[in-house]
Amino acid sequence: MTDAKETQWDELITHGSVVSKQHLADYFAEDPERFNKMHRQFGPLLYDFSKQRLTDQTLKHLIDLADAHDLQGWIQRLFSGEEVNDSEGRAAMHWALRLPVDAKCQVGDDDITSQVHEQLQHMELIVDKIRAGQWRGATGEVITDVINIGVGGSDLGPLMVTEALNDFTRKTPQGLNVHFASTIDGSQLSQLLRDKKPQSTMFVISSKSFTTIDTLTNASTALQWLQRSFGRRASASILHCHFIGVSASPHKMTEWGIAEENQLGFWGWVGGRYSLWSAIGLPIALKIGVKGFRRLLAGAHDMDEHFKSAPWRDNLPVLMGMIGVWNTNVLDINALSILPYDGRLKQLPLYFEQLEMESNGKSVKRDGQPVTRSTCPIIWGDVGPNAQHAFYQLLHQGTEAVTCDFIVPVRRYDEARHHEAAEELAAQHQLSLANCLAQSRLLALGDAALKDADELPTHMRYRGNQPSSTLLLDELNPYSLGALIALYEHKVFVQSVIWDVNPFDQWGVEMGKKIAMSTLAKIRGEDASLEDTDSSSAGLLRRIEAEWKS
Ligand code: F6P
Repeated sequence: MTDAKETQWDELITHGSVVSKQHLADYFAEDPERFNKMHRQFGPLLYDFSKQRLTDQTLKHLIDLADAHDLQGWIQRLFSGEEVNDSEGRAAMHWALRLPVDAKCQVGDDDITSQVHEQLQHMELIVDKIRAGQWRGATGEVITDVINIGVGGSDLGPLMVTEALNDFTRKTPQGLNVHFASTIDGSQLSQLLRDKKPQSTMFVISSKSFTTIDTLTNASTALQWLQRSFGRRASASILHCHFIGVSASPHKMTEWGIAEENQLGFWGWVGGRYSLWSAIGLPIALKIGVKGFRRLLAGAHDMDEHFKSAPWRDNLPVLMGMIGVWNTNVLDINALSILPYDGRLKQLPLYFEQLEMESNGKSVKRDGQPVTRSTCPIIWGDVGPNAQHAFYQLLHQGTEAVTCDFIVPVRRYDEARHHEAAEELAAQHQLSLANCLAQSRLLALGDAALKDADELPTHMRYRGNQPSSTLLLDELNPYSLGALIALYEHKVFVQSVIWDVNPFDQWGVEMGKKIAMSTLAKIRGEDASLEDTDSSSAGLLRRIEAEWKS
């Protein structure tokens, strides 16, 4: 490590030894202007970090640390298409997927903007045809149900966004429904195949690599289901009428049988967990229309521009990333809970789990040496009000320090003005907002938020000092959601720079897949040997075999 970095770390840690002894209640008591000083607004997002355990001096140290790690240089590398994903020898250009059509983006010989917009137009043609009821199944029936088969980044992003933007669904003449199937055991698919009609159901096989076993087995089950219904002789028209492929590997789609005109492509330089902006977002466009999808891209693009140009002190992804570093490496807080106070964002914690933990859950630096400081915290969450009735007990009175991200829209149900229960729903939203603010206040202040806390027994007391950030969205719509997701993407990148890890690879998930294949041979009785495995796995295998034989 260079001296400049080491010096900044030393200064930050020395500063931290003082700040870590302070209580958030004191900060708020001492400075009524704390919120005014410690929140920032960009577009539809207000980021309040006044309930984080830090001072203005902390921000200065964090900015110096970012500079010592050449954050500016790394941002430039990211946005100029350099191979920032060094272990895989490629760039990470998810940001290019949301460039407006007139933006210039040339990397080597490639005109990236035109490639991106060509695919977007192809996707638009397909979406319009399906939505208009012009895409027919093999027997001529209109397609009414589209099932996205994918997993990880080829599932979580589109699933999360289609649910979040349900209110923005654009009606179609036939009443189009979009579904998701990801689990390798076929649970979701089996339910869908039971309920849907083969004649009017189509499948989108989404897989960057087109080699993921989870996705390929679900896809093959879907194909067999259709073949059983239509007969094997109809194979060509089944593939042509009922399957679309989305992948960065066109020849693998062709090998599988996806017709060329049904193939939507993207590129190796789009990481799976960063891919919802590409044709992987097809289910989103099917649901909210291509116009809505473009608003999602626009929100993310504006966040990209903000990230590239705003000074660190006002730069949302930089502040968020560096405050995360502060929590992890100085305050020793290794858990982050994502708490949306809006039921439409139920999938958001799951999506962020992959985004953050698959990106920065690393312990080897870019140069191959082990890291010397903690990296990505453990991330989990749920819809906040529901989680209040589940795991908040630990947040308030457990022994673990946890930091929370509260995410809530200010306006809700504007579109429901004519709803029969409009007034009641508006009141429910107020209740949700009140709960959100109450929880972050109590977590921060503890007993200081209560009247006469001294008189309460210890089991009714609150330690407080659990830091949190609050993200207020003007409202949840395609544009604000695009900006929110891009904010977290860039936050993850900022942290990767400080931790000196590559956030765009995921080697840790590879070996388990290989061991699964050799274990499958044992489960299926094709390989009877158990000596090459451990006693736990061997014992479980014997038990499974005995149960099947009984
Ligand atoms: O196994 C992890 C992973 O590679 C993720 O990174 C990815 O999002 C997911 O699997 C699915 O991969 P693919 O889109 O290639 O099927």
